[in-house]
Amino acid sequence: DIPNLKDVFADDFLLGAALLANEIADVEGPDAQLVKKHFNSLTAGNEMKWDATEPVEGQFTFANADKIVDFAEENGIAVRGHTLIWHSQTPNWVFYDENGNLASKELLFARMKSHIDEVVGRYKGKIYAWDVVNEVIEPGDRKPNGLRNSLWYQIAGEEFIEKAFEYAHAADPDAVLYINDYNTHFTDKRQFIYDLIKRLQDKGIPVQGVGHQTHIGIASPSIQELDDMLAAFRDLGIEQQVTELDMSVYTNDAESYESFPLELQIKQAKRYQAIFEVFKKHADQLTAVIFWGKDDLNTWLRTFPVDRNNWPLLFDERLQAKYAYWALVDPS
Ligand code: XIL
Repeated sequence: DIPNLKDVFADDFLLGAALLANEIADVEGPDAQLVKKHFNSLTAGNEMKWDATEPVEGQFTFANADKIVDFAEENGIAVRGHTLIWHSQTPNWVFYDENGNLASKELLFARMKSHIDEVVGRYKGKIYAWDVVNEVIEPGDRKPNGLRNSLWYQIAGEEFIEKAFEYAHAADPDAVLYINDYNTHFTDKRQFIYDLIKRLQDKGIPVQGVGHQTHIGIASPSIQELDDMLAAFRDLGIEQQVTELDMSVYTNDAESYESFPLELQIKQAKRYQAIFEVFKKHADQLTAVIFWGKDDLNTWLRTFPVDRNNWPLLFDERLQAKYAYWALVDPS
């Protein structure tokens, strides 16, 4: 019997995974057993996004999100909420009025409040942290010039971010409220998020955490850049979490883990090991490290950005522990 990952990092941070409700449809099956054994935090991969929870205005659908929350509750696993306000996976009706014109700011905020009240309210006391806003920084190149030019921004400017945090805080004052984004190791983007958080703090907006998605590659960013990424936010006095960790690694021809080059597996294992050393260094602020997926079969990287086999996680497509897993439980 192999060691439980969550116990290995028990003194450091919560150790989590994102999954889809169908992965644990059989609550006693091998997938569910893997989750129960290794993880003490779960994130719904899609089930709590706006298009899943309120596809039609005022009609809320929670069946799939409930499956994950109930499973977690029954097994003593904490749940992270993902995500309230995003430019993606959000139905179009949110942004338009009944005449098909862009919604007014008032209408947009009314819809936002109703959505957040309903979703956050439903899981009040059951979700310990929420990604209130996701990916609100302009992706651009390495030099973001400001907030993403989403429909949220076009209609309401920066105020949409303030309102989202205020509504979420009102709906569950105990949930820790996060701003979440990717490529937070890019220095310009990082600085922009830092400044945004400062502005929000100065206005008394309850932003309480910064989430680093951390979708990374086998060669970049460097370990130093990841260290700098976490160090950069330390003096804001808020929590940090690694919210969507995976390490893309693939070849053009490998068909299974067995045929995947050993050399790349070892490289991945060593890199994961070094990265977790950095995470441990920041454990006083870093409250959770969450993988975006639990195994290499269910990873989103097998369909994004294109269909191809990928081995980004700690367990392979047969749920077997990889070298990357062993590098974390037995760093010697
Ligand atoms: C991804 C899901 O894993 C996919 O199933 C879905 O098709 C697209 O979204 N950043 C995020 C997550 O914040 O919500 C995304 O999840 C991955 C990138």
